[in-house]
Amino acid sequence: MKKPRKGVGDPSWPEHDVAMLHIVTYCSRASESVDAAALGHIVSTAQQYNACHGITGILVFSEGIFLQWLEGPRDAIIPLMKRIAKDPRHDGLVMLNELEEVRGRMFPNWSMELVHITEICQVLSRTLELANDAATIQAVRLLLADLSTGGLAELTLH
Ligand SMILES: Cc1cc2nc3c(=O)[nH]c(=O)nc-3n(C[C@H](O)[C@H](O)[C@H](O)COP(=O)(O)O)c2cc1C
Repeated sequence: MKKPRKGVGDPSWPEHDVAMLHIVTYCSRASESVDAAALGHIVSTAQQYNACHGITGILVFSEGIFLQWLEGPRDAIIPLMKRIAKDPRHDGLVMLNELEEVRGRMFPNWSMELVHITEICQVLSRTLELANDAATIQAVRLLLADLSTGGLAELTLH
């Protein structure tokens, strides 16, 4: 089981509790140039930026498909999503969900965690165990149901 990264899950982490959160989930197709080094670069840039802007989430990468869950203050998520959408390292971006509500974070301990497809159900099941608000529980159940029927490739609607 993945462990929270040191320093991010401590009580000083911004908005660790229930708060107004802007949440975006999307799928996209990685460009051919994205190899392990490029992926590592994306994740380390994301972790540095997100940690300074109260953004948490996960990035799932499998067979050339990205699925990202971003959660944080609206003022931080909207401009970041504009940059991500223009990033030439992926295309065919499909928004799966975008909402804003008062709730707990799904991934309070991860500024941006790269999760392999084989770990996603385990990560989401653990999130479900720890979740204490109805919105998070419903969101995780929906994601788990989608993944059990079609996997990531089905979610991209190509
Ligand atoms: C799939 C994917 C996910 C990304 N996720 C993040 C992220 O969570 N946070 C972040 O700061 N940059 C992320 N990036 C990188 C941004 O697209 C962008 O390169 C970065 O914010 C720097 O922006 P700039 O090149 O306009 O300065 C991601 C890129 C890709 C391709």
